[in-house]
Amino acid sequence: MDGLQTESFDLEQAPTPVAGAADPPALVDPFGRAISYLRVSVTDRCDFRCVYCMAENMAFLPKADILTLEELDRLCSAFVARGVRKLRLTGGEPLVRRGIMTLFASLSRHLRAGRLDELTLTTNGSQLAKYADEIKAHGVERINVSLDTLDPEKFRAITRWGSLDKVLDGIDAAQAAGLQIKINAVALKGVNDDEFPKLIEWAHGRGMDLTLIEVMPLGEIGEGRLEQYLPLSMVRARLAERYQLDDLDYRSGGPARYVRVAETSGRLGFITPMTHNFCESCNRVRLTCTGTMYMCLGQEDAADLRKPLRASASDDLLLRAIDEAIARKPKGHDFIIDRRHKRPALSRHMSVTGG
Ligand SMILES: C[S@@+](CC[C@H](N)C(=O)[O-])C[C@H]1O[C@@H](n2cnc3c(N)ncnc32)[C@H](O)[C@@H]1O
Ligand code: SF4
Repeated sequence: MDGLQTESFDLEQAPTPVAGAADPPALVDPFGRAISYLRVSVTDRCDFRCVYCMAENMAFLPKADILTLEELDRLCSAFVARGVRKLRLTGGEPLVRRGIMTLFASLSRHLRAGRLDELTLTTNGSQLAKYADEIKAHGVERINVSLDTLDPEKFRAITRWGSLDKVLDGIDAAQAAGLQIKINAVALKGVNDDEFPKLIEWAHGRGMDLTLIEVMPLGEIGEGRLEQYLPLSMVRARLAERYQLDDLDYRSGGPARYVRVAETSGRLGFITPMTHNFCESCNRVRLTCTGTMYMCLGQEDAADLRKPLRASASDDLLLRAIDEAIARKPKGHDFIIDRRHKRPALSRHMSVTGG
């Protein structure tokens, strides 16, 4: 990929916090929610241009604004030292950032030290055939792969130029490497709404969970959101005519609600930010590749962590900035898509904040 960042750093230099050492108290927000999950967008770039995520001609960030892999490691490690137990690398497409395996390798020291429960990834799957073995070797057990259709033509139309075969090869490689996969599909009115039974039977037939996601109003994409928006309450009602859907207590710590599809024995999730408020159990914050921390996916308020990170070799300023930001974490989001709100609720794209 041209224009992508090429780098690596010396793993020997990455400090390992000592478990049990006098850590500052864990992160708890003003509503008593412990922050244990950090999602990090490691690049805003991508090899696809999904129609609900990006405009065709996206302007990407200049390299100087983007944190180096070493800086990303330092930031993630500061959060781990403050009680974050789960790290998800996302993007943009995380696997198109050159040298990204170095970051997986360095962060895996926190898994080995017992300070991190899970290191994981959300990917479009295009590079999985190349990286699946290495990802698994760095302690990753489960990954999310985004796939909205099994029709090659539709796939090309949704992603603007992606190849379905490449993604399916990536999924094969990931399963062969022993990675557990959850498939995420965005529900798009008039595009893939006839395909959900096929997607369910395909995913469950291969031992993968499937989660359906409602389109969120993030970023100007050059097409009407209202045309894309399909409430999952309708999808679920339609699926219930065909399958027996048994509610599950299972929660992944996130906003998805799960059912067991009796006919396939597989798990099906629904992420419904537009029709269901999932904020009361929110345990997460997000970090962009420029070091901006968003306390809520659905709000504008953010904290610049790059400045304190670069201002000093010690983490004192950084940890203070993280504490101040967590103290401002809002109670919830205010997404809305209707005919009176033609503009996106938020100007930034999902590829900036990370999905
Ligand atoms: C932004 S992508 C980043 C990781 C990777 N490139 C991928 O596609 O999995 C993460 C997830 O966000 C979803 N997504 C992107 N834009 C969205 C939107 N406006 N509404 C709902 N989901 C969106 C994608 O379908 C994907 O599952
Ligand atoms: S959803 Fe993922 S793959 Fe699609 S354009 Fe956005 S970042 Fe890229």
